[in-house]
Amino acid sequence: MVAPTKSGRLDDDERASLSLFISLEGPDGSGKTTQAQLLAERLRRLRPDVVLVREPGGTAIGDQIRQVLHDVRNVDMQPRAEFLLYSASRAQLVEQVIRPHLARGGIVVCDRYADSSLAYQGYGRGLDLKALRTVTAFATGGLMPDLTFYLDLDVAVGLRRRLTGGGEWNRLDDEALDFHRRVREGYSRLIAEDSGTRWHVINAARPIDQVHADIWEIVERFLP
Ligand SMILES: Nc1ncnc2c1ncn2[C@@H]1O[C@H](COP(=O)(O)OP(=O)(O)OP(=O)(O)O)[C@@H](O)[C@H]1O
Ligand SMILES: [Mg+2]
Repeated sequence: MVAPTKSGRLDDDERASLSLFISLEGPDGSGKTTQAQLLAERLRRLRPDVVLVREPGGTAIGDQIRQVLHDVRNVDMQPRAEFLLYSASRAQLVEQVIRPHLARGGIVVCDRYADSSLAYQGYGRGLDLKALRTVTAFATGGLMPDLTFYLDLDVAVGLRRRLTGGGEWNRLDDEALDFHRRVREGYSRLIAEDSGTRWHVINAARPIDQVHADIWEIVERFLP
């Protein structure tokens, strides 16, 4: 906890130091949405200032973009257009929700973030990673999570979960197994190449409560 200033109020820097930005990443059906909800619920038992958002979406404009991206009829969407739509949704989410909330000292849990674009549109679709990183930095103003949980799961198992789970089946779920394998391999490379300490790899093949316990153990250590 940060000591308050003489006035008893926190200044902007102190408030920002209380903030925590957490993202969940992983292939389709690996349990990101399930775990993001459990994590947000648990955090809310400790603090009231927890916001849970998802990508694409999380804002009124972002949710409209999400519909376009997920519509199974949009089979002719070009990879660059796809990437830019994700980026537009992300730019809106960062400016409208994430940045202001972090500035107030809050906690943000994000169900997918910029790494998803590098994994899916970069490694999955084969778009130039350097270009994707440049546009992503522009869209987010360089904002990256403090903590990222990578839920690692065999892609066939994940897609089976999605099929039997009764949730929405979207345009990207429709991709060939090969595409999803490239995405998973891409995530592994992103993690291997990152020199920082943001990534935490979680074995997502275990029961929901065990995966949650692993995530919670790490989050607890980062709570201001
Ligand atoms: N550890 C788990 N073991 C078994 N089933 C799980 C587990 N975690 C989640 N599920 C189930 O698998 C399905 C997909 O989970 P979820 O929607 O959380 O995945 P996701 O990573 O958010 O998928 P997507 O990438 O498509 O958004 C759901 O029906 C969910 O209940
Ligand atoms: Mg999900």
